[in-house]
Amino acid sequence: MPHRTLIRGARVVLPGKIARTSVLIEGATIAGVDVARQTRADEVVDAAGLHLLPGVIDDQVHFRDPGLTHKEDLRTGSRACAAGGVTSFLEMPNTVPQTITVEALAAKLALASRRSVVNYGFYMGATTDNLDELCRADRTPGVATPGIKIFIGSSTGNMLVDDQECLEAIFAETTLPITAHCEDESTVRANQARLAGPLTVDDHSRIRDHKAAVTATLRAIDLAERHRHRFHVLHVSTGEEVRIIGDHNRIIAHHDRIITAEACPHHLFFDTSDYARLGTLAQMNPSLKTAEDRAALWRGLKEGAIQIVATDHAPHTLEEKAVPYPGSPSGVPAVEVFLPLMLNEVNRGRCTLADLAAWMCDRPARIWDIVGKGRVQRGYDADLVLVDMESERVVRNEDQRCKSGWSPWHGTKLQGWPVRTWVGGRTVFADGRVETESVGREIVFDCKRGGYWATGEPM
Ligand code: DOR
Repeated sequence: MPHRTLIRGARVVLPGKIARTSVLIEGATIAGVDVARQTRADEVVDAAGLHLLPGVIDDQVHFRDPGLTHKEDLRTGSRACAAGGVTSFLEMPNTVPQTITVEALAAKLALASRRSVVNYGFYMGATTDNLDELCRADRTPGVATPGIKIFIGSSTGNMLVDDQECLEAIFAETTLPITAHCEDESTVRANQARLAGPLTVDDHSRIRDHKAAVTATLRAIDLAERHRHRFHVLHVSTGEEVRIIGDHNRIIAHHDRIITAEACPHHLFFDTSDYARLGTLAQMNPSLKTAEDRAALWRGLKEGAIQIVATDHAPHTLEEKAVPYPGSPSGVPAVEVFLPLMLNEVNRGRCTLADLAAWMCDRPARIWDIVGKGRVQRGYDADLVLVDMESERVVRNEDQRCKSGWSPWHGTKLQGWPVRTWVGGRTVFADGRVETESVGREIVFDCKRGGYWATGEPM
């Protein structure tokens, strides 16, 4: 008989409502919601006073494994996920070696099966000459990927694909959904040349400026539209991109829409005024923008121009970050504080738990055609997180489970923290302790590939 866990008394964030009810886990699956009081179980969890949510799905992390494991690896990164209520991640291809062949993808999946505490999937990275591999990735049985990542703008890992002919071919000839880092390389280079001289970290936002982000996002949307290719804009950082994406989707009939977008916590919580306090710890690509851009990102989320939130967890060591700008690397770690940051906003009244579950659980599953995840619903995978909305804690570098051992939110008091996380019905985080076994499983993608706009009503 599979192990049965009955979670009783929690306020459960269900599709369409929040109800005080019970959830039965049987083996790896949610076997029932609102089950009879006498239901037999091997373990009964009294969750009165707590909220139960679907496990968070983070569609943008950099776990540095293989090749850059002094920054993070699949074990440390996934354990940080478990402690933060993130039960599934999609990881980026800028590792060493890069995930640019079907063999490299298969090797990463095999590595994760031995190391990951939570569920995993890996993007295929585009280069200027791996079109065949990008096509093969969608046809090779047993090697699944959510889609293709293009760096239309250079960042960590030397994976720039800027050439128009190459981009046209990728959008024309591949079948997997495409996502991209959008910062226009020629704008960045022109800004660099203009600002030549001693630079400080706040110049990062002058080099990777509004124009760089907007130009590249427009270019990618144009490619997607002309080739009718599903496209997801990663880490939107400007109000102008929010307006462009929102307007674009408004003028197109719902069933013809192909563009989705996401915002990241660093762009939602920081702006250029934070360089003075954080220095290069606030350096990331796309760069921080103004307080007005930040407000526009929140509005975009609330109004639906941006569908999801994801971390772009990009750890570097403190020693690497301490190199003076521009030698310092771009990126910040976030998976462990992602959910608490957003729960804190629910407590502050900026958004609701239903918003949060849509942005961080249900919609990422639907954007990437993930099977059986993102909802607390009978038959779905038992990837769940129990949170205490009352609990208050200060984020501390010394508490971080990520290998880099720091957080740009160090010193910030947050209210609302995970207390227990299940992955496929197995407890991976409880009483402050994290599972060490590789409990995570490969994420399954629906081969029909309908995408976000083709699926039913949003949560
Ligand atoms: O800041 C960033 N860091 N942006 C990216 O696009 C890549 C990432 C990294 O891998 O370090």
